Amino acid sequence: MAIPDEFIQELKARTDIAEVISSYVQLKRSGRSMMGLCPFHSERSPSFSVNRENGYFHCFGCGAGGDVITFIRKIENMDYVEAVTLLAQRAGMTVPENTTDSGLGQLKVRICELNREAARFYHRQLYSEKGKEALSYLRGRGLTEKTIIHFGLGYSPSSRYELVNYLKEKGFSANEMVQANVAVKSQRGYIFDRFSDRVMFPIIDLKGQVIAFGGRIMSDVKPKYLNTSDTPVFNKSRNLFSLQLAKNKAGGRLILVEGYMDVIALHQAGFEGAVATLGTALTEEQAMLMKKYAEEVVVCYDADAAGQKATERALPLLRKAGVRVRVLRIPSGKDPDEFMRSYGEQGPARFGMLIERSGNDMDYRLSLLRSSFHLEIPEQRVEYLTRCAELLSRLENPVEQDVYLSRLAEETGVEKSAIRRLVQKESGARAKKEQRTSQRQVQLQAGGRTDRLNTEKAGRLRGANAEEALLALMLLEPDAAALIVQKLTPDGFVTSFNRRIYQVMHQRVLEGKEVSLMDLSSQLSPEEMSRLAQIADRRPRENDPLSAAGVYLGILEEERGRMTREQIASADEETLREEIERLRRKKQ
Ligand code: GTP
Ligand code: MN
Repeated sequence: MAIPDEFIQELKARTDIAEVISSYVQLKRSGRSMMGLCPFHSERSPSFSVNRENGYFHCFGCGAGGDVITFIRKIENMDYVEAVTLLAQRAGMTVPENTTDSGLGQLKVRICELNREAARFYHRQLYSEKGKEALSYLRGRGLTEKTIIHFGLGYSPSSRYELVNYLKEKGFSANEMVQANVAVKSQRGYIFDRFSDRVMFPIIDLKGQVIAFGGRIMSDVKPKYLNTSDTPVFNKSRNLFSLQLAKNKAGGRLILVEGYMDVIALHQAGFEGAVATLGTALTEEQAMLMKKYAEEVVVCYDADAAGQKATERALPLLRKAGVRVRVLRIPSGKDPDEFMRSYGEQGPARFGMLIERSGNDMDYRLSLLRSSFHLEIPEQRVEYLTRCAELLSRLENPVEQDVYLSRLAEETGVEKSAIRRLVQKESGARAKKEQRTSQRQVQLQAGGRTDRLNTEKAGRLRGANAEEALLALMLLEPDAAALIVQKLTPDGFVTSFNRRIYQVMHQRVLEGKEVSLMDLSSQLSPEEMSRLAQIADRRPRENDPLSAAGVYLGILEEERGRMTREQIASADEETLREEIERLRRKKQ
């Protein structure tokens, strides 16, 4: 797993963190750092900063942070080696052979190979005697031969041992089959096929690897769909069905639908931007993923209550991800698959028209509201406008706001200026509330009370703060680092979380190596990296790093002798007397 240090040094020299992050986040210069909207949580005003000089990013909204490798790991869902490989490609370098075969990496490769074999197997079954019924099921649902092949659809035979036997012959182990979740182990330890007598939909990632399957039963038996659980290569909240097909064909516009069959029907009708989630509600990660490939997303969920709820949940995520949103409601409560089938040849043209006529998320929300009030009754009109004002107050674009204000004024006969005041009132109330919550968070964190990573911090606040100051100096001031390492061994730290970070740094300095964040990335977890970035970011700029180091070393030494609150609570009388005596001596 070890990538040579020299390689990382070269990569560090050739990689500009701001440039890398800019391909995911729009950054604006602000003082020493660059600011943007955090890609790891939803926000409307930027709290995500990138420090180009020291090579780290940090979000003071959600606490995410780290070096450029940590950033890629988080945003691309990769392990350390994968992230380094990606950055190396970007920098025109090749990761030295034989360093990439980490245990987990190796297993992932095997699972993808296994899945590909399984997909081939299922597809062949569809055209065998056993698959007859499945094939006619798919044809009966209007799928052409071309579509069936395009999506690599298949059939899992009912016997429950055929896939397992086939994969065994191909050299895959029982463990690999279970890890890939195409097989399960019985209590007695037998291995058998997980999917039986189902139509199979392979799920393929952006690199073209088969990462999972969805299997639909052909009768009314429940569950209708059986999907691969999360595996080392598959996370259902981070992938989208058919994005690999849609990403280059979408022309900047993706269509988000609920089901696999909807995606397939739309593709067959020529709407190749269709994608679906994998049996769960849309996640923030999926919304960001769509943003990478499209400017606009048309949400086209089923018209039933569940679909409406799913739409409600998806809209804010999409808006925050920064895509233009449209909501398409199919008349007469059909889903896209049923729509295409019922209109036959006219389907595509009609669906295209529905897309063009669909409004944005605000139009959708307002029209939902509109349909739940009787505007001829004055009280209802007031209530309606109040609810509308709440919606409009979330719009950041004043022109957009104005357009809707005019529309509402016309619709209700209430003066535009009055509605505007209502909107302003709502904005003010929300801004205040948001400010209060964020202030509270900052206070709690500074007090160490909510520090979940460093749980000892609350009891040893002064010591932990000195430790953090020292860690920051280590990172940012090479001269200070040399001094600190001379004076302090890791067991001088009073909290074990900070001690572990210091251990890694200490060792590197002793070996004569650098300790910038990127140098530590292979040895610290993403959480530790986040914390370190936060520590670096909070450090006041010292005019004289060496004497600052001296001060913090002194504080830490004092704190080392001091008992913690818990120790005091459980100490015997003798120990307590000694402690009081020690403190008294120090005061004099
Ligand atoms: P058809 O009923 O064949 O038209 O399928 P569909 O793809 O239109 O499915 P539907 O709209 O009923 O459901 C939408 C999506 O939710 C499916 O594509 C699945 O991803 C998921 N889903 C539906 N039923 C189940 C289920 O029983 N279990 C799981 N895990 N997921 C399901
Ligand atoms: Mn359906």
